[in-house]
Amino acid sequence: MLRGFNDSVDKTVREAEALAHRAAIVGAGHTRFGVLEAGPRALVRTAVDAAFRSVDRGADRKDVSEAFLATLGFGGSQIGNSAAVLAEETGVVGVPVTRVENACASGGFALRSAVGALASGASPLVLVVGVEKMTDVSNARRRYWLGVSGDTEWERLAGLTFAGVYGLIASRYFAEHGDASEALAEVAAKNHENGALNPNAHFQKKVSRAEVRAAPRVADPLGLYDCCPVSDGACALLLSAPEVARKFTDTPVYIDGTGAGTDFLAVQERASLTRFRATQRAAHEAFRSAGWHRSDVSFLEVHDCFTIAELLALEDLGFAGPGEGAALTLSGETRRGGRLPVNPDGGLKAKGHPIGATGVSQAYEIFLQLRGEAGARQVAHAGHALAHNVGGAGATAAVSLFSVG
Ligand code: COA
Repeated sequence: MLRGFNDSVDKTVREAEALAHRAAIVGAGHTRFGVLEAGPRALVRTAVDAAFRSVDRGADRKDVSEAFLATLGFGGSQIGNSAAVLAEETGVVGVPVTRVENACASGGFALRSAVGALASGASPLVLVVGVEKMTDVSNARRRYWLGVSGDTEWERLAGLTFAGVYGLIASRYFAEHGDASEALAEVAAKNHENGALNPNAHFQKKVSRAEVRAAPRVADPLGLYDCCPVSDGACALLLSAPEVARKFTDTPVYIDGTGAGTDFLAVQERASLTRFRATQRAAHEAFRSAGWHRSDVSFLEVHDCFTIAELLALEDLGFAGPGEGAALTLSGETRRGGRLPVNPDGGLKAKGHPIGATGVSQAYEIFLQLRGEAGARQVAHAGHALAHNVGGAGATAAVSLFSVG
């Protein structure tokens, strides 16, 4: 009798969970990011093997019914039909695999697609993998492949690089809101300090604000330490429907809302250089779909491909007013011990930016942090988190909201 009662309470709880949450992360694996010997196939294998090993009560490859692969195919190493490569390397041949390519936002969009696949009810366990191999090409090819995700006619063929575009954005930000060089230096110093505590980070060394400001210029006002590096790496997540998540682990991390947006590819077509409408739209949709307020969020993983991008993210996501991201950053509140920690894993700046892997890796960090498994870089009171992944210079953006418990 009591057993029946408990079963029915459990069922009600599970149904309530299913309504409140859209998907659950039950396992996650990560390779080191950096200049690595391994090629893309080995990187995928390593990350996926680690994701399966991480599932507390185990998961079988035969339970995977769908997979998503985020990759740009940098350098042309695997431009076409890489879905089959994922299936082969991870032992899920037969299941549908969809490749998602939205430049640097590929991972965030792949995660969103996986949530959609789970919502359809057809897939009990979905695999999401992001990978990029970037460091095995010549400098000339590297420049070419870094440029392919920008506008061709007005930007790339005129010689504008991504550092160049973000340099223009930073100059415009300074013109509108005053010199924010010290805030940019603080973004780099903070993220390097966090990266120094992350064994998977490309750079695991601290830099001071003075070192950031004295570094060689790349695209004025941005210097070497204002830029993310060119990195190899992969990351994998195992997602289940929320109502079956506890079959795999007692501490699933739930995805409560997602949003995405686009803007014009060429920055000259945009209404503003210092506001990313794709991010604003993605954030609006994510918060609305989760029913959350900004004040619910305990920490952020944002797309800091260049330091100025972290200030824009704070503003476009709604955590600071226009031009106020600099003051929020300088207040120390975005440090690990602050009120709103930002990029506790080191961000793209220090952890590295293997293009297709980045958005998946942001969710990996959130998985660890929300479960209290982030070791020396653990954020206090981490209950709700946001991931923000941008493609190109703001042309595409995906935002996801995560909770635990
Ligand atoms: N931050 C900190 N240190 C960096 C770095 C970065 N972004 N990039 C390189 N370094 C370090 C290297 O580790 C190396 O240090 P060492 O001499 O102690 O070994 C040194 O700087 C020179 O490295 P190198 O690879 O020769 O640098 P580079 O001049 O070829 O490239 C950048 C530097 C900034 C141009 C390159 O990292 C870059 O293009 N970044 C942006 C990538 C990008 O646009 N991604 C897409 C975003 S939308």
